[in-house]
Amino acid sequence: MGSTIIGCGKSLPALEVENDELQALVDTNDEWIATRTGIRSRHIALTESNADLGEAAARRALGWEPSGWTQRAIEADEIDLLICATVTSDVVVPSAAGMLKRRLGLGNAIAFDVNAACSGFVYGMTVAETMMAASAAGTVGAVGRNPVRRALVVGVERLTRLTNWFDRNTCVLFGDGAGAVVLEWDEERAGIIGSYLVNEDDVTNALTCPSAFDAPQPFDRSGVSLAEPIPVDRAQDRIDEELATLESVQAGEPRQVLRMDGPRVFKFATAAMTEAVHRVLDRSNLTLDDVKCIVPHQANERIIKYAAKKLNRPLDFFQVSIGDTGNSSAASVPMALADAYASGRIKQGDKVILTAFGGGFTSGAVLFEA
Ligand code: ACO
Repeated sequence: MGSTIIGCGKSLPALEVENDELQALVDTNDEWIATRTGIRSRHIALTESNADLGEAAARRALGWEPSGWTQRAIEADEIDLLICATVTSDVVVPSAAGMLKRRLGLGNAIAFDVNAACSGFVYGMTVAETMMAASAAGTVGAVGRNPVRRALVVGVERLTRLTNWFDRNTCVLFGDGAGAVVLEWDEERAGIIGSYLVNEDDVTNALTCPSAFDAPQPFDRSGVSLAEPIPVDRAQDRIDEELATLESVQAGEPRQVLRMDGPRVFKFATAAMTEAVHRVLDRSNLTLDDVKCIVPHQANERIIKYAAKKLNRPLDFFQVSIGDTGNSSAASVPMALADAYASGRIKQGDKVILTAFGGGFTSGAVLFEA
């Protein structure tokens, strides 16, 4: 018994930007980007919101629209849980999952977001599976309106909104998109067999992105308790000072963008991914020989090649979808999984590993039987 994937879909924004087009912004070229990363183009959400992308992927996974892979169409009221993995929700409140719940009319679903950067989807799948297993075992019974028998897990990002388009070290890497799966508790089939999640402190701040809350404010009373307002005679000076700071910051480097020490992340990623694969196999009492394929986070094709070498498997053992997507953070694993289903690569009974790493540092793997 276990949580089985019964639907999977993805969605990409309409605008596709080729490597060469980035030359208009930074000193780069197609050859550098393609050989160092495997990326040839990426999709950028100019008009689509996070909720638009998530909704389109979810509709395909639910069998409401064509082009997804589904065992059967799911009714809206059959979904008991909706988890959205994202770092780029359109608004802070409601959550991205809350927005999707409304749009999809999932009246019974408990809905919340998971932020584990690029590992978010693997974390979200694990949380969903754990809630479904606990519900089936009667440990938590009906946490929501119903026992948790079916879950929609969505990975969705508009990472290009957090991209510094004048930094060639990062702007060539990222793209937008969404992927979704429907999980169903099955008393007969194995479904998700094992999970492994781990967090390591990113001690050198190799991967960071400030939040909007970090932006300077003209009325920031740093060091002054809100209960002790600035005396009226000093207030104007204070406001002038704060406005000057704000203007200087606005004129400089954009604040709310991803900053990354690429080589440091590369080193972490390769070690984390191979460790996660070994650990999830160990705790599932399986070996790599039992596994049909690995669907990894799509951050850089060279990272996947390195993992292939370490795991002693050819590159085609891995689903590689990065060519036309770039790194879409939490959306990358479910989008690559949707490609694997759509191409017929995954058949019922196959064992598959999903693995990811990301900011935090987070990493992990999920092993499931299709
Ligand atoms: N075009 C041309 N040249 C470039 C570009 C570019 N877009 N970017 C960097 N360069 C230059 C550098 O300036 C450097 O030049 P120098 O030698 O004169 O100083 C040279 O290319 C080599 O730079 P490196 O950073 O050493 O290149 P590397 O081979 O390590 O590749 C990359 C960089 C692609 C970023 C790689 O380190 C990587 O993929 N790291 C992991 C990134 C990752 O996985 N991030 C996602 C994790 S989580 C998340 O998604 C949020």
